[in-house]
Amino acid sequence: MATASTVILGTGSYAPERILTNTDLATMVDTSDEWIFSRSGIRERHIAAPGEATSDMAVAAAKAALADAKFTAADIDLLIVATVTPDQTVPAVSCTIQHKLGVPTNAACFDLNAACSGFVYALDTACAMLSCGRYRRALVIGVEKLSSIVDWKDRTTCVLFGDGAGAAVVGLSDQPGIGLLGTRLGAYGDSADLLCIPRGGSSSPATLESIAAGDHFLKMKGKEVFKIAVRAMEEAARDILEQHHLRADQIGLVIPHQANLRIIEAISQYLELPMERFYVNVGRYGNTSSASIPIALDEARRAGRIKSGDITLLVAFGAGLTYGSALIRW
Ligand code: UT7
Repeated sequence: MATASTVILGTGSYAPERILTNTDLATMVDTSDEWIFSRSGIRERHIAAPGEATSDMAVAAAKAALADAKFTAADIDLLIVATVTPDQTVPAVSCTIQHKLGVPTNAACFDLNAACSGFVYALDTACAMLSCGRYRRALVIGVEKLSSIVDWKDRTTCVLFGDGAGAAVVGLSDQPGIGLLGTRLGAYGDSADLLCIPRGGSSSPATLESIAAGDHFLKMKGKEVFKIAVRAMEEAARDILEQHHLRADQIGLVIPHQANLRIIEAISQYLELPMERFYVNVGRYGNTSSASIPIALDEARRAGRIKSGDITLLVAFGAGLTYGSALIRW
């Protein structure tokens, strides 16, 4: 019996209305548009409105993806939400999203934390769960309200991140050779402290002192993370191409995690694939972690950058430190 293919049936994305520019940031911390743009390629980012929750952004992106796929929330029996910024620690934000969206109560709903690699991990999870035959149609969401965990007094991190959501409806197709061809996931847990929130978790619950010290905010050793990111993303891309006997020039479009334009340019150089083959929107969104790849994927599809028969490579890297790549034939 031929195995069914796991295919993306529709995509959607959402970004909050408010835009925070580098010039705005220069009035908040000791920085400049020149520094931020030259080091990261970022010009501006979207910031959620007061009271606008992670779940609200996810619902907006999910509605767009469902409309694109021509399905409704009632057609979903698996909801996976990749995020590091759920509305609350408990319960899973996927359950809040299920309720707000009207996904049936017999759908499996859970969150997945693989930081910036979250969407690639979630896509692989959805693929495995659909392929086993127990689920028919998944909604996979990558969403972040990073503005809620960023230290707005720390210029080394606050200039880099933004808020937003991206979603994909994933289902099965009898057509062979299309959809998710494969993934390559991994993690370097030994480097976890390079990008983390030091306190506020179960190993070190928040105290008045830890809050006063700002230890409940995101901390990053940027230079070290940069080096590992380039190496891990290049390897993840090379490995999956090799596994599928593909050359880099057979990839129509690479959708990399949007953390830093210089990281993307380095990967383009190492893979010897011109920047025109990379989708880049980091300048307009900053780093939106789990949301970065699905927002870029949705924009690329809607801009006509992906055609039927094309192969797209997703490649990600993030806190954990996690990494992942995926190949999709459309
Ligand atoms: O999505 C998850 C993965 N995250 C990433 O992939 C991020 C990886 N890292 C990066 O993208 C880059 O390392 C950064 C953009 C974070 C930083 O760029 P960098 O070229 O590595 O700069 P740096 O951290 O070495 O900082 C250089 C200088 C320092 O001053 P000194 O020590 O040379 O005097 C910083 O204090 O720039 C200073 N600096 C700033 N200056 C103006 C740091 N942040 C700022 C700022 N504005 N916002």
